Amino acid sequence: MRRLIAANWKMNKTVKETEEYIKKFLKFVEHPESREILICPPFTSLYVASQLLQGTGVKLGAQNCHYEKGGAYTGEISIPMLQELGCEYVIVGHSERRHIFGETDELIHKKIVACLEMGMRPILCVGEKREEREARMTFKVIETQIKLALAGVEEHIDKIDIAYEPVWAIGTGTPATPENAVEVHTFIRNLLNELNPNNEGKTRILYGGSVKPDNAKEFMKYDAIGGLLVGTASLDPESFSKIVYSF
Ligand code: 13P
Repeated sequence: MRRLIAANWKMNKTVKETEEYIKKFLKFVEHPESREILICPPFTSLYVASQLLQGTGVKLGAQNCHYEKGGAYTGEISIPMLQELGCEYVIVGHSERRHIFGETDELIHKKIVACLEMGMRPILCVGEKREEREARMTFKVIETQIKLALAGVEEHIDKIDIAYEPVWAIGTGTPATPENAVEVHTFIRNLLNELNPNNEGKTRILYGGSVKPDNAKEFMKYDAIGGLLVGTASLDPESFSKIVYSF
């Protein structure tokens, strides 16, 4: 299975900056078919990004979505709107959505169900906070987040990717050790097999949290790590390309 290397720009880059970034980034892209490269810009940059990425093999994704197709939901963006712009992926349940904007497991579940119904591939983010890790609750937290998000849609596990992003590693400059990440990835893989013994293992489990060009290779040494979700270090096209081609 091709590994997925994804850029999550978060609330960064104007349309003009997006244009400059993508033109520069594409100069570094070789053999895009050897891995899956995904860029998730803010909503306002999706249109220009989709125009520039057409035919390049680099995929486009969004950072969030609403679970309804349309209606009176001021400020929200629907999955069909994203699909019209060429988005094939959407990040769901990012820790910043959970902890800054109060997204609950119930809301995240609705978004996952909507993605599956509407043919969008979600990247479900899970991860424990520092105090939860210190209290040795990591596995329990991850299990609860995954079980609630996927309740009732276990048969579609293969149409989802999961990103393990420990909250304490996001934007801190201190990543999990690759061994720590592998331990949690293995736990997630076993849980997915338990939830759906017939799954074909097509769910990639990504690691995210302070991934940089100089540590990406260490993570990618392990088969259990199906890709990377990169924040800060994806904001510079050269730095992101080094991560994309770190393995
Ligand atoms: P950083 O790479 O900045 O730690 O962010 C990770 C992240 O949240 C990606 O979704």
